[in-house]
Amino acid sequence: MNTPEQTWNTDLYRDRHSFVWQYGEALLDLLNPQPGERILDLGCGLGQLTAEVAKTGAIAQGIDADAAMIEQAREAFPELAFEVADARTFELSEPVDAVLSNAVLHWIPEAEQRAVAQRIWAALKPGGQLVLEMGGKGCVQSILDAILICRQHLGCGEPAAAPWYFPSVGAHASLLESCGFEVSLGALFDRPTPLEGETGLASWILMFAGRYLIDLPEAQQGVVIEEVADWLRSSMYREGAWIADYRRLRMAAVKQTVV
Ligand code: BEZ
Repeated sequence: MNTPEQTWNTDLYRDRHSFVWQYGEALLDLLNPQPGERILDLGCGLGQLTAEVAKTGAIAQGIDADAAMIEQAREAFPELAFEVADARTFELSEPVDAVLSNAVLHWIPEAEQRAVAQRIWAALKPGGQLVLEMGGKGCVQSILDAILICRQHLGCGEPAAAPWYFPSVGAHASLLESCGFEVSLGALFDRPTPLEGETGLASWILMFAGRYLIDLPEAQQGVVIEEVADWLRSSMYREGAWIADYRRLRMAAVKQTVV
């Protein structure tokens, strides 16, 4: 998912951060795709999860705002349909039975979440299902706090970027309900996430949290990252891996047509 605050290095994403879609496979049980069902993977990235959905016999399609990701998804899975489209504005030519969204919605600012929910509602058939997972309330809070503290300490001030949207169950369920969904499942849970190797945290920050450093010259970014690693090492580095304090929000909801 590409937003004004975030662009992607697709090689780094595929080679060192494949956990993003691998963890997403747990969502397939909840989605329970049936042969012949039309399913949209919203924010499909490199298309791996879309391809897993297609293996069930469902007709899977993917959209993502990042053109480079979509190009690679098309190369990797030429039999599937992938389009460049933004979650806040997309329209489908045919409604779908279900929308799946993994590790994407937290990139979109809170003020624009209503537009996303409305686009998903419009894309679904009546009674269609939404299954989503995203960062939930408190996700990577220790890393974010450390970046802010180290920036202050090094005289870099506040970052300009808007924060990630990491909602509680209640906040996101209310938003979906107000857009015409009945929420059937909501869960917020810790998912400690290993970032392999001594450079795992630095690599993660560059991939996912670059928005909090983008206003600084490259050399200064490196200094902040080193200080963040020093700050977090005693609590987060164990036996050759950094353990990031991920928290996930998982939800299932059904499109209602009569409220
Ligand atoms: C994620 O893609 O799951 C993620 C990104 C940034 C912060 C936390 C989680």
